[in-house]
Amino acid sequence: MAANINNNMLEAILAQVRPLLGQGKVADYIPALASVDGKKLAIAICTVDGQRFQAGDASERFSIQSISKVLSLVAAMRQYDEDEIWLRVGKDPSGQPFNSLLQLEIEQGKPRNPFINAGALVVCDMLQSRLSAPRQRMLEIVRQLCGVADIAYDATVARSEFEHSARNAAIAWLMKSFGNFHNDVSTVLQNYFHYCALRMNCIELASTFLFLADQGRAPHLSQPVVTPLQARQINALMATSGMYQNAGEFAWRVGLPAKSGVGGGIVAIVPHEMAIAVWSPELDATGNSLAGIAVLEQLSQRLGRSVY
Ligand code: DON
Repeated sequence: MAANINNNMLEAILAQVRPLLGQGKVADYIPALASVDGKKLAIAICTVDGQRFQAGDASERFSIQSISKVLSLVAAMRQYDEDEIWLRVGKDPSGQPFNSLLQLEIEQGKPRNPFINAGALVVCDMLQSRLSAPRQRMLEIVRQLCGVADIAYDATVARSEFEHSARNAAIAWLMKSFGNFHNDVSTVLQNYFHYCALRMNCIELASTFLFLADQGRAPHLSQPVVTPLQARQINALMATSGMYQNAGEFAWRVGLPAKSGVGGGIVAIVPHEMAIAVWSPELDATGNSLAGIAVLEQLSQRLGRSVY
């Protein structure tokens, strides 16, 4: 069933959601993020049949933060056999805040999934073991996926997070104590913070993630990004863990695989049809974009799309 989307419809959804601005809170635990204008609101869509739609501040770049955890997982899936990855990180929702240490101690240093901070840090540790220049490699992957050559890291955001890294460092050291972290903690933290500090806009994010809507294929690349099975697996992880302890509520309201970041971005996938990126910097109590979720809820209802 072809989706009936146009830019006016997207503008109408943003207008409907705009009154929510002011109800959330811009992330301030990374000081360099606190200065972002909380009133920004954007959406962009790329469809597998080559259509592009956008509304609001869709060409303004922001810090993608935890959305990068999907890209680091993709990089690891291209470097490692399946068993090697899933021996070190699980596939289940955590039901805990993204930076929690509680479960990690109880479960002996094996993170519940690759999208909480602990899981993403294990994935970055794996990349550090196999790649000679993990930061450069990630830039190459992202630039290739979205077809934009000037995607870059925000060095100020990465530095700001490194200067306030007590909790992520504690997570990494705890995993090291259980033997599930092999490289120098501060080197891997630096890579992880740089990945989180990628600056992209909604149009770039929607085109980057289109491969997850199209069985692992990016339209402009001759080689698949991942296999059809891997694309399905990544979507499943996004559906169950992409929105942290809000995954159930998000499934109820939106019903699509998605990944959020504390910069206020969310990427959502309609399998076989489209990749959607939304941005609104104010977050709810679980660290997900408050108005961004509302935009996705309106869109999924208007289009009649859900994976459930
Ligand atoms: O490690 C952190 O806390 C941040 N760099 C990323 C957290 C994040 O984006 C969680 N997402 N909603």
